[in-house]
Amino acid sequence: MSTKIAVFASGSGSNFQAIQEAISRGELNATIELVITDKPGAYVVTRAQNYGIPVVELAPKTFADKAAYEAKLVKLLKEREIEWIILAGYMRLVGETLLSAYEHRIINIHPSLLPSFPGKDAIGQAMAHGVKVTGVTVHYVDAGMDTGKIISQGAVDVIDGDRGATEERIHKLEHALYTRTLQQLFNAKK
Ligand code: GAR
Repeated sequence: MSTKIAVFASGSGSNFQAIQEAISRGELNATIELVITDKPGAYVVTRAQNYGIPVVELAPKTFADKAAYEAKLVKLLKEREIEWIILAGYMRLVGETLLSAYEHRIINIHPSLLPSFPGKDAIGQAMAHGVKVTGVTVHYVDAGMDTGKIISQGAVDVIDGDRGATEERIHKLEHALYTRTLQQLFNAKK
């Protein structure tokens, strides 16, 4: 049985696309039932539509508070029997409502070797610190900012002074590592 997932994204959606392509190639036994974005109009919406995957665009500020926003998300997810939530560039802290509805079933990818450089612009933070090696982390989501239990990591050499090339290496690793890690997780839980 294929695992039903929802992908949450706020931006470009290259990780969403990498996951969908891995599914299409038969490397990941899952179905993306739904893409949710908190940034209406983000490029991930176009990518999802290109694959015919339903997208929900919900701006949190149109809800009374975070709990009301997340209650709506939980309703949408439960209606589609979503088993796992996969964050892929979802730039928002997850609150108690979602965390309790999907305990140990929310996964995130972050472009650094956590616990170094959590939060926004991890690649810029790493380059500003002059580190020679950075990387990618896949982890369980908790209430903190990129603080949940680490599941897998991979390292990337920083190309001095070349953010674009370093970023390209990181994204390439993200796309491979996320798919591989998700398949291991889904296999283990079945
Ligand atoms: C990715 O690099 C992801 O690791 C990062 O946002 C980017 C989204 O790219 N996430 C975080 O920084 C989470 N703290 P994408 O929209 O092309 O997948």
